[in-house]
Amino acid sequence: MNQPQVKILVVYASEAGSTAEVATYIKKQIEEEKYEVVLSNVKEVDSVNDYDIIFVGSPIYVGKWKKEATKFIETNQEILKSKQVFYFLTCMNLATDDHEKLAQVPKFLEYERSLVESVSEGRFAGVINMKKLSFFKRLMIKMVKAPEGDFRNWEEIANWTNQSLKLIKDK
Ligand SMILES: Cc1cc2nc3c(=O)[nH]c(=O)nc-3n(C[C@H](O)[C@H](O)[C@H](O)COP(=O)(O)O)c2cc1C
Repeated sequence: MNQPQVKILVVYASEAGSTAEVATYIKKQIEEEKYEVVLSNVKEVDSVNDYDIIFVGSPIYVGKWKKEATKFIETNQEILKSKQVFYFLTCMNLATDDHEKLAQVPKFLEYERSLVESVSEGRFAGVINMKKLSFFKRLMIKMVKAPEGDFRNWEEIANWTNQSLKLIKDK
């Protein structure tokens, strides 16, 4: 059975591709619950008018969402305030057990939250593939001692998506 007539947009920024895969997975989870859902790179979204619910996600680079994701919130903030918005992020701080790094994570989206409140925020460990990075970025990763590998937990991502959909249904 199809869900009520809500249209969902999943938009993402990604540099090395892992957050694009997370967004694709979130879209798939939403589809499985029989919602109408569109996936788009944040750079390719013309308008959010047609959607009731928007998931917006980006990796964290040097403590912040990628610029185009933040810009998307800035540009569309008035209309987004009238929608149900969900934020998600990928980052490597969550792939460590360093208390300081873990404590930083809830602060990453402080600015975006001050513009448009989200119903819920998904925070996921991401991926570092040194082979995909420039020399400069590899150096940065070594300096901050971020772990290398794929730390995405698909079950956690699915759970968050399903919890988020329940929040929509409850409204
Ligand atoms: C140059 C660089 C800077 C990064 N800065 C941070 C950071 O400040 N905090 C953090 O938790 N993760 C940081 N990361 C990890 C990324 O958020 C993580 O690798 C993410 O999964 C990349 O997503 P993408 O494949 O979609 O680009 C950084 C990664 C790189 C390569």
